[in-house]
Amino acid sequence: MAGRSEGLALEPLWHASQGAVDAVDVRGGPLPAELANRYRDDLDIPLRQDRPTIIANFVSTLDGAVALGPSEPSAGGGEISGFSDADRFMMALLRCVADVVIVGAGTVRTGRRHIWTADHLQPALSGAFAAWRSELWLAPQPTTVIVSASGNLDGTHSGLNAPGVPVVVVTTRAGAERMAMGLFSSNVRVQVAGDGDRVPVGSLLEIVAGLGARVALCEGGPHLFGDLIRARLVDDLFLTLAPQIVGRDANVKRLALVEGASVSEGRGRWSSLIDVRHAGDDVFLRYRFAP
Ligand SMILES: NC(=O)c1ccc[n+]([C@@H]2O[C@H](COP(=O)([O-])OP(=O)(O)OC[C@H]3O[C@@H](n4cnc5c(N)ncnc54)[C@H](OP(=O)(O)O)[C@@H]3O)[C@@H](O)[C@H]2O)c1
Repeated sequence: MAGRSEGLALEPLWHASQGAVDAVDVRGGPLPAELANRYRDDLDIPLRQDRPTIIANFVSTLDGAVALGPSEPSAGGGEISGFSDADRFMMALLRCVADVVIVGAGTVRTGRRHIWTADHLQPALSGAFAAWRSELWLAPQPTTVIVSASGNLDGTHSGLNAPGVPVVVVTTRAGAERMAMGLFSSNVRVQVAGDGDRVPVGSLLEIVAGLGARVALCEGGPHLFGDLIRARLVDDLFLTLAPQIVGRDANVKRLALVEGASVSEGRGRWSSLIDVRHAGDDVFLRYRFAP
């Protein structure tokens, strides 16, 4: 199944008044015509004053799967969305307003040719993306921030070698030592966070803030997203519902894998629905978490 919902607009169905948001400043606003043809509305990301705003983007099946796991020929979000063009547009639009795109190393390892830019997802719209980023005074491309404890990354991965796309790998001391033994292009910078065997998400956030980022887009995967959710750092979640049921399998992953959290700790992450739209059978939901 390739290219579902090709070229469809994301038709607005409902949105809440965003007046409740105490935002002094907003990233986004009216879209250039080519992008507005598909999104139909302005896209506004309220900017926090105390730290970078973190938005997250996932696509899920109706039964809550975001990854099919290693038993499948490929395990990426494309298989979840059925390679929905509308979902790729939504991802691209969010990348277009982001200063950095944060991904976990597990996600990086499943897509060896992926590059975390808007153009990579929607090449025909690259001119419109560039124009909007320039209008918003953003760097030509968002910085890719990869989080890895092990430093087990392939220096030949396309996402680590794309001209004009800076990459920062946030890792542990052991991860940095491992990377020092590999070959990486000059646009890859390694930053050690903390002294432990994981990257504390607070340190990750400090590094992201140190890059000058006001909007950080987390594209998962479930482990990294789980860490951010547990630390209450996610502001808005853009969730695409793809109209498929995949059923139960040991390798199927759900949206947030919150390591070590008890069920009661996992409860209470309530959010408000603030926007609903659809493109054919795909539904696009936007939730806002309470600070
Ligand atoms: N449907 C969707 O929208 C969507 C979105 C994203 C990903 N996915 C899918 O999800 C699957 C991957 O799942 P996953 O849970 O393994 O993804 P993940 O969170 O991207 O990767 C987990 C790995 O990321 C690193 N990591 C995450 N948090 C860390 C922390 N706090 N400190 C240090 N390292 C950290 C570790 O890397 P090391 O092992 O290197 O130490 C960890 O093993 C893939 O199949 C991918 O395609 C789907």
